[in-house]
Amino acid sequence: MSKDLYQKIYVAGHRGMVGSAIVRNLQSKGFKNILTRTHAELDLTNQAQVAEFFATEKPDQVYLAAAKVGGIHANNTYPGQFIYENLMVQNNVIHQAFLNGVKKLLFLGSSCIYPKLAPQPMSEDALLTGKLEPTNEPYAIAKIAGIKMCESYNRQYGQSHGVDYRSVMPTNLYGPGDNYHPENSHVIPALIRRFHEAKLANAHEVVIWGTGTPRREFLYVDDMAAASVFVMHLDKATYDSQTDPMQSHINVGYGLDVTIAELASAVAKAIGYQGNITFDPSKPDGAPRKWMDSGRLNRLGWTSQVELVDGLKRTYLDFITQ
Ligand SMILES: NC(=O)c1ccc[n+]([C@@H]2O[C@H](COP(=O)([O-])OP(=O)(O)OC[C@H]3O[C@@H](n4cnc5c(N)ncnc54)[C@H](OP(=O)(O)O)[C@@H]3O)[C@@H](O)[C@H]2O)c1
Repeated sequence: MSKDLYQKIYVAGHRGMVGSAIVRNLQSKGFKNILTRTHAELDLTNQAQVAEFFATEKPDQVYLAAAKVGGIHANNTYPGQFIYENLMVQNNVIHQAFLNGVKKLLFLGSSCIYPKLAPQPMSEDALLTGKLEPTNEPYAIAKIAGIKMCESYNRQYGQSHGVDYRSVMPTNLYGPGDNYHPENSHVIPALIRRFHEAKLANAHEVVIWGTGTPRREFLYVDDMAAASVFVMHLDKATYDSQTDPMQSHINVGYGLDVTIAELASAVAKAIGYQGNITFDPSKPDGAPRKWMDSGRLNRLGWTSQVELVDGLKRTYLDFITQ
């Protein structure tokens, strides 16, 4: 990795939760030349702007962590924007990276690429074996196209141009920089806000939607960034040993899942809320279990480092200092 420290590394989406964690990780490892642009400075859906940026800056490596991201409500309300903007961002960045001689690129996808009824834990070979969850199908289709674009460029331009574009599929992420919006946030930031407010109000009870029994997996975002940098720097023979040219993506999970009830207790503990936690089974539960098979990444030599309660404490600190 040391020979890479002076390479010019473009992190697309550096103000987002994942992109900012990738920048933190690269800086902590001593990378000297990290290139960033805000959305206002460079709209990645704009082909001409992206072409000019790559032609001018000529980065050596690219982390593609820019995307239009949102929860069920946003995905359901703006499906056109989700498919258009994500396809445009990734087509522009991947193609201009190729045209401008970038050999190494890492594309960030999501576990929603897998079929709704994929066997658990979800392994990489579940891709394209069944119907997707309808609420985020447009987003997932864009992400699948991103994986296939990287693979297709590797297959066509790998030998001739040295192109080596890789993809990682994170499980649910949490950590600093998360969105704590009262209505639009994911489960961990939503629970952090609710337990924090209950603690301040000395509330004797927090009611959680559903039965508390569904199982979910959560990975701390700095672990995700560490995995991204790890996968980017794997030598090609090692990477090839665990992937196939037409099935090259790599799951990034925590390794264990927890019930929503266990998660709620862990959040309460991290925050110091001592009241009761109860459940409202009249509200929907969602899928009984969503869990990634991270065996491929584990065999390549990476496992998660940040335990759930520790990650929750760090995230709570981020929440109260915002
Ligand atoms: N968070 C999770 O739990 C999770 C789980 C699995 C996978 N992922 C993946 O990880 C990646 C990053 O997610 P995240 O959670 O870090 O999202 P995020 O916090 O919303 O960050 C995305 C970033 O991309 C930027 N962006 C979006 N559209 C852009 C455009 N047209 N031009 C320039 N910049 C643009 C955003 O800027 P603005 O805010 O200014 O628009 C934002 O800084 C995504 O590919 C996502 O699918 C995330």
